[in-house]
Amino acid sequence: MPRLQMAASTLICDTQPWKDLKAHVEDIKKMHLRDLMNDHERCKSMMLEFDGVHLDYSRQCANEHTMEKLFTLAEAAHLKQKINSMFNGEHINSTEDRSVLHVALRASRDEVICSDGKNVVPEVWKVLDKISDFSEKIRSGSWVGATGKTLKDVISVGIGGSFLGPLFVHTALQTDPEATKCAKGRQLRFLANVDPIDVARSISGLNPETTLVVVVSKTFTTAETMLNARTLREWITAALGPQAVAKHMVAVSTNLTLVEKFGIDPNNAFAFWDWVGGRYSVCSAVGVLPLSLQYGFSVVEKFLKGASSIDRHFHSAPFEKNIPVLLGLLSLWNATFLGYPARAILPYSQALEKLASHIQQVSMESNGKGVSIDGVPLPFEAGEVDFGEPGTNGQHSFYQLIHQGRTVPCDFIGVMKSQQPVYLKGEIVSNHDELMSNFFAQPDALAYGKTPEQLRSEKVPEHLIPHKTFSGNRPSFCLLLPFLNAYNVGQLLAIYEHRIAVEGFIWGINSFDQWGVELGKSLASQVRKQLNASRTKGEAIEGFNFSTTTMLTKYLEAKSPVPSDPVTILPKDITQ
Ligand code: F6P
Repeated sequence: MPRLQMAASTLICDTQPWKDLKAHVEDIKKMHLRDLMNDHERCKSMMLEFDGVHLDYSRQCANEHTMEKLFTLAEAAHLKQKINSMFNGEHINSTEDRSVLHVALRASRDEVICSDGKNVVPEVWKVLDKISDFSEKIRSGSWVGATGKTLKDVISVGIGGSFLGPLFVHTALQTDPEATKCAKGRQLRFLANVDPIDVARSISGLNPETTLVVVVSKTFTTAETMLNARTLREWITAALGPQAVAKHMVAVSTNLTLVEKFGIDPNNAFAFWDWVGGRYSVCSAVGVLPLSLQYGFSVVEKFLKGASSIDRHFHSAPFEKNIPVLLGLLSLWNATFLGYPARAILPYSQALEKLASHIQQVSMESNGKGVSIDGVPLPFEAGEVDFGEPGTNGQHSFYQLIHQGRTVPCDFIGVMKSQQPVYLKGEIVSNHDELMSNFFAQPDALAYGKTPEQLRSEKVPEHLIPHKTFSGNRPSFCLLLPFLNAYNVGQLLAIYEHRIAVEGFIWGINSFDQWGVELGKSLASQVRKQLNASRTKGEAIEGFNFSTTTMLTKYLEAKSPVPSDPVTILPKDITQ
């Protein structure tokens, strides 16, 4: 399908708007946020609100000229057309020849979103209705386990996009009053790492009789997930017999043939589609099934609605008033033009403690590319290095570096009302106000810094002045959410997903493939074969370089070989 690209050989960096922005860097570097922040009109123009979400981007090293130039760059990159192409189901993931339609996963029943000429929304709702029905059966106890007991605990087995998004949402909802009420007496756990320690942790204290395992894998071939799934199948059958699998294991996948081959009844499989990228799949059965089992479908539906509200905003709002577009353009400005390649994601809410690890995958797997969508090597670096921790924990960890070391653009995310209000009589502020005092203080500390003159006026000894000086001029965004319920979590997710797409669209890369994860996987399979041959047949290590051979030899020497009559070893319950 033809793509709305510039001529194949034209990279965005060859366009005039890109060159204009490059030239503009010098102007901006002469300015300091301390001064820019004094211009109230400027600050006013850099704040907006949509559906209760407030964005303040006044602490970006940017002025109205920067914004104009960024909008011109967006035009040169055909940003509007690319967004439309995504919503229209064109095969914008050209290396995999796929549409990119995660927005269809949260569309309302009456919306029409087509992939290959077919409206996909009815299929989406067919699966959502099936999830609603199934999760209700499990939650109400009308579907019971092999020994007749209610399945109150769920282990969701999956990795990458089949894990991080659902974990982020689960962690965010765990303390939300409405969600907590709905989750009473239930547990949701995740098993991602192929490390047997993760297996031991995930099953510790659980009884197979009351546990449902959801195997989540788009491909149903991911080595880590499949070994973990086989391990939990063994855990269930060892306790309850092989017939128990039908009652205790269900699957989420695009590959229903492999689900059946694994031994899971296809009636207990929840489908999704190749137009859903793994890291964009939390709104499909990947996230909706485990989350509905834990919180009930009605809570999860609110999460989908929040994401859908941002989808509509992203699709229709003019760029000057479009939260994901503004975030994307300015992030690209920071990373590519100002030369700040990292981004710190700093939610002032413990409920968002897994946001950064989810966004790490969404952002770094999407935009960590070295060639344009047409395969032309990029003469600039795309992608950002994302990391983060909830405030205030981060403040007592890596904030030293972001205040006085490298410049790291920061996303400060705050919530107006806490999920868990606490106030102690006699304290001057509530616990949430204490937390938010930091949320409001940190962006200004980064922007303004502290000058030697200020320090001298405070009588700071001269030898300490260099150490106590803060250069300031460090950019940040502030996002303020009204609350943190399922709806707001959906909004936040979609804001990040679309912001990352905006950056990829401008860089001119394919943000929806992930070829970079393949090489390591194939080398691991060579090592796996070698380990098996050496342990079972004593075969010498062959075909590896000197360093790997040496380390493999040491590894093999330290562990006894697999016994001639191998037996299954399952992890011990670490709670006993
Ligand atoms: O790490 C590569 C990757 O393909 C991710 O994109 C994906 O989210 C993850 O593996 C898991 O894949 P699957 O859902 O097919 O098991």
